[in-house]
Amino acid sequence: MVNIQQLKQWKQQGRPLVVLTAWDYAIAQLLDAAGVDIILVGDSLGMVTLGYETTLPVTLDEMLHHAKAVRRGVKQAFVVCDLPFLSYQESLQQAMHSAGRVLKETGAQAVKLEGGHPAIAQTVAYLTAAGIPVMGHVGLTPQSVHLLGYRQQGKTEAAAERILAEAIALEQAGVFALVLEHIPADLARKITQTLTIPTIGIGAGVDCDGQVLVTADLLGLSERQPPFAKVYANLRQMITQAVQDYSHDVRERQFPEGK
Ligand code: KIV
Ligand code: NA
Repeated sequence: MVNIQQLKQWKQQGRPLVVLTAWDYAIAQLLDAAGVDIILVGDSLGMVTLGYETTLPVTLDEMLHHAKAVRRGVKQAFVVCDLPFLSYQESLQQAMHSAGRVLKETGAQAVKLEGGHPAIAQTVAYLTAAGIPVMGHVGLTPQSVHLLGYRQQGKTEAAAERILAEAIALEQAGVFALVLEHIPADLARKITQTLTIPTIGIGAGVDCDGQVLVTADLLGLSERQPPFAKVYANLRQMITQAVQDYSHDVRERQFPEGK
């Protein structure tokens, strides 16, 4: 299985990290067999599979339910599970309880939490001290959508400075990797060069140590994709066609075949 030491080594060797999200057993099995390095049970599953408008309503119990299914499908990849909105911000104890449940109940190897505020860095240090690997996430942090919107972050010099400082603080607090979402490519490059832990970009240019996409976006399953996503297959179209073909065959008594 992929482990943390290997991830850091791959950064040093300049081997890009392939990261994708998963929300159930079938998707996880396919990604794992295809050789994805890190599988993230992202709270984007709230929008992708549960039909929520944002990631805010997602509960810890929902994340645990999906993470268990994902973990059962994985043999090789490193599995990370998002801590959902307000499952880690109340107190260090709450964060430990939530992260502990993820590791104990799902078999995921790490948690991810959003933001670079000093309180978040403190939480990272607290969890790491207990032996829980934590992935960070700065730039556009969807759990703060009501504060930030879905706009690109770090566009002004001051904002870029702040995100770089957050990245350094998170590395010092102990994150083993850092997601950089929707920030200018030159800022992501600077952060990547500054840190010794791997950066994983999404809408952050080609110079990050790895890339992540929401798998539903890559497969063309989402109703709409963010501007930085690339659609590698159009499953919405394929599924619609298959269902229409089946409906036609049933209505015309062409399925099942034979008498
Ligand atoms: O929830 C998610 O899918 C994520 C990735 C986009 C990094 O946090
Ligand atoms: Na997320």
